[in-house]
Amino acid sequence: MINQAVYDKLVAQFEAYFGKKPEVVSYAPGRIEVLGNHTDYNEGFVFSAAINSGTFFAIAPNTLGKNRVVAGDLMHEVSFPLSGAKPVKTDTWANYVIGTVAGLDNIKPQTTGFDGMFLGNVPMGFGLSSSAALEMCTAKAVCELYGIQADTVTLAKIGQAAEHDYAGCSCGLLDQISSLCGAYGKLVKTDFRTLKVETVDIGPDVCFLMCNPHAKHALVDGQYNTRRKACEDAARFFAKTLSHPVTALRDVSMAEWEAYKDGLDPVVANRAAHPIGEDERVLKGAALLEAGDLAAFGQLLFDSHESSRVMFENSCKELDDVVAIARTVPGVLGARLSGGGFGGSVVVLVNARDAETAAKAIASAYAAKVGGGATCEVSRIQPSQGASIVYSTVAH
Ligand code: GLA
Repeated sequence: MINQAVYDKLVAQFEAYFGKKPEVVSYAPGRIEVLGNHTDYNEGFVFSAAINSGTFFAIAPNTLGKNRVVAGDLMHEVSFPLSGAKPVKTDTWANYVIGTVAGLDNIKPQTTGFDGMFLGNVPMGFGLSSSAALEMCTAKAVCELYGIQADTVTLAKIGQAAEHDYAGCSCGLLDQISSLCGAYGKLVKTDFRTLKVETVDIGPDVCFLMCNPHAKHALVDGQYNTRRKACEDAARFFAKTLSHPVTALRDVSMAEWEAYKDGLDPVVANRAAHPIGEDERVLKGAALLEAGDLAAFGQLLFDSHESSRVMFENSCKELDDVVAIARTVPGVLGARLSGGGFGGSVVVLVNARDAETAAKAIASAYAAKVGGGATCEVSRIQPSQGASIVYSTVAH
């Protein structure tokens, strides 16, 4: 099993804390976003991958008439009612669990409580969606325990609603879909209009590095929500201006943007250019992967970062420095920020045979360039399997 040591630790801690064995244990991974930035809520396209680290959720019923959940790293407990639970103001990690359970309660109201504990190894602050991993392992475990039938899109939407209503971030569906649909050695290609998901082989010759320069930025969620609003304003403008139907920026081409952008506020116009260009890059990238042209696919990652830096302004100096360094490192095919932006990490596509030397080269060049003890933490990422039930005593 993937991440067996984390699983073993969680089960031992669960038994010691609750004095009983879990009846179900689920697993959900984090994700990297490879190409297609801020396109999900614009109904566009994304290449992503589930990663080789994730979170396990162990669960068993209780007779207390309430739910209890424990963060297995902190050993803090939060309890909440079976229905109508409100977001909490302290131990805010619990909101991802509470929000997800509330969404499932709408499908099948809970009549008995549960005891749950989770533990994971998704590095925090890397922009690897540890929150989506927590939502999706919660959802899988609760569905299995209570016999709730819910398909992938329903589960992803429940996780998204937990982010919107319990954590205050108006995110799209990318993180949850990637966590649910990942497969070993594959990229996940999602059309966020039809919600059709395909997996695409990336082959054994390349892998990814996640490079975290520990950029600390305030107001991250606020910035994300502001970018989303600018995209929606631009879509409304194009809907009035273009002769074909526009319900989201997905319906606007780069050529149309170029022709009509002067009718928009210049900042809003630049914001809109990013997801429009990203959609075109993902479609081009799909053809390049099909043709096995990984070098040209990698170049699209550099182009994506440039669009983030200049048009969407969701990068920052630390991430720009990492990308500039990556361009000079042998074996690197492409690099870009991954996820919401304003901090987090750079994802680097690298020839597998050069991965180790490239990781060291990026870390040492970053320390030398920035100075003052600054570090860039680099970890190797393997596209891996999506969420699943890993242990269950529930008879169906
Ligand atoms: C975050 C959000 C996703 C997506 C990305 C940017 O990860 O949670 O929904 O919008 O940013 O592509």
